[in-house]
Amino acid sequence: MVQINWLKSGEPFSEQFQDFYFSTDGGLEETEYVFFKQNGFPQRFKEAGFNQINIGETGFGTGLNFLVTSYHFLHSEHVNCTLNYTSVEKFPFSKIQLQQVYTTFKKSWPQLSICCDELLQHYPEYFDPLNRFIQFKLADGKITLNLLIDNATTGLTQFFALNKSHKIDAWYLDGFAPAKNPDMWQQELFEVINILSKTGTTISSFTSAGIVRRGLIEAGFKMSKAPGLGKKREILFGIKE
Ligand SMILES: C[S@@+](CC[C@H](N)C(=O)[O-])C[C@H]1O[C@@H](n2cnc3c(N)ncnc32)[C@H](O)[C@@H]1O
Repeated sequence: MVQINWLKSGEPFSEQFQDFYFSTDGGLEETEYVFFKQNGFPQRFKEAGFNQINIGETGFGTGLNFLVTSYHFLHSEHVNCTLNYTSVEKFPFSKIQLQQVYTTFKKSWPQLSICCDELLQHYPEYFDPLNRFIQFKLADGKITLNLLIDNATTGLTQFFALNKSHKIDAWYLDGFAPAKNPDMWQQELFEVINILSKTGTTISSFTSAGIVRRGLIEAGFKMSKAPGLGKKREILFGIKE
């Protein structure tokens, strides 16, 4: 089980990485700003017509990014597309831990309650080490969540080897800070992300670390910086040209 230290506010802190799962200074607002808006949502849901929008994420964690995206997907006007969300997580929360986090989420952000409850209903009681791919069909089939229980680079490589034509439209590059989690932020990961992208695929990250920016540029993305929220000075966003 992943080692969590619960703060007085109810928020989880990773003992292993000595880092926060999301900003304690407005987690929902940060998710909306860094990941959702920098990738052009909710406008892109409308522009997709009746097609499928594919979002890829590194580090599912508490699922906050997924919940916020699902909430807006289901509540934005004139959306006819389906949402396919693929997230890779090496150290998943247990169902009991997730229940605890969602008690806090539901108090802080009641609008997420229905999405929290539905995800919890489907979340496995335990993770079978022989089954590293769990698919959830949510919101009457309008949302598919593919949860890959693996190291980011390996999980994404294997999943897409089985789904060769599947390309990601927008990436949420999350994960603990590169200085605290250097194992994940490797050039190999950026190369895999590039292979799984197409012209026009967008990407954003909470970090503006040089290793991430340079790595994504080397892999084929045009990267820019935007001002961060709260204490964060800058964040990254980009596009595959
Ligand atoms: C900052 S948290 C992600 C927060 C998450 N998006 C949320 O909404 O809660 C970073 C996540 O990356 C996961 N992680 C760390 N190293 C990883 C790796 N090498 N491969 C895949 N996931 C990793 C951690 O277990 C953690 O859940």
